[in-house]
Amino acid sequence: MDILKTKSEMQEWSRNKKKGSKTICFVPTMGYLHQGHISLMEKGKPLCDELVISIFVNPTQFGPNEDLDAYPSDIENDLALARKAGVTAVFLPDKKSIYPENFQTEIKLQYLPKFLCGKFRPVHFAGVAIVVTKLFNIVMPDIAIFGQKDYQQLQIIRQLILDLDFDIKIVAGDIIREKDGLAMSSRNAYLSNTQRVSALSLSKSLNLAKKLIARGEKNPVVIKNQIETFIGTFPETNIEYVSFCNPKTLEDIDQIENQVLLAIAVKLGKTRLIDNALIDHPSQ
Ligand code: PAF
Repeated sequence: MDILKTKSEMQEWSRNKKKGSKTICFVPTMGYLHQGHISLMEKGKPLCDELVISIFVNPTQFGPNEDLDAYPSDIENDLALARKAGVTAVFLPDKKSIYPENFQTEIKLQYLPKFLCGKFRPVHFAGVAIVVTKLFNIVMPDIAIFGQKDYQQLQIIRQLILDLDFDIKIVAGDIIREKDGLAMSSRNAYLSNTQRVSALSLSKSLNLAKKLIARGEKNPVVIKNQIETFIGTFPETNIEYVSFCNPKTLEDIDQIENQVLLAIAVKLGKTRLIDNALIDHPSQ
């Protein structure tokens, strides 16, 4: 497994592989890898000749009061996990390499960031868009894999690919859960024991909604009220949003028909957790 620490090393590596007609699959990460990331690597491994991951905690996607400085990191363990997953190269840039002095460019999508997490994290998706664009230009992948847990991010990347004409196929990876249903996230490491129990309120709410929709409920407000009351019974929970929306545009819907995205964000102390599910209405 090659470890590449500068932009030029990474670009040269990719150019050489391409000269040899090798295809490249790419999984961008911020490190502190868990089974969710590994599943993305396992999904990507058979799709291309080379499997590249990046580990870079991108400062531009964190707001001023967010957890950039506390973001967990364990590079040695990440490298061991990547090696085991069959990764052929790890791009491990430092901040200066990605954002040299006098860096000026912004990438702003007009609509998709207005909804869900974007309402609460105003700079987040512009930060994601710029870093992912740069990583695509540096790694030059044929395929890139993103997890569905960050559903809004996935939609934004799909739009970015269309808008900026990237010749990259985007593949979505399933949400990977702990045995008790909690969606895997590097941020789960922040949770106290009580908060870890309360964290289950998210996946349990998705199950509650699935049950109500399976029984024929079509009114998102009715389900939303039940979910909000349910989450409120868990200690330390502070709901940011419970949203039923159109899976493509992310706009709120007023009637559940066909497929709907239910997305939830809850703060537990300082830790912000998200989860979501695509749910089909039985009348389809
Ligand atoms: O999903 C993440 O871990 C990050 O948002 C990403 C895509 C690596 C960009 O920093």
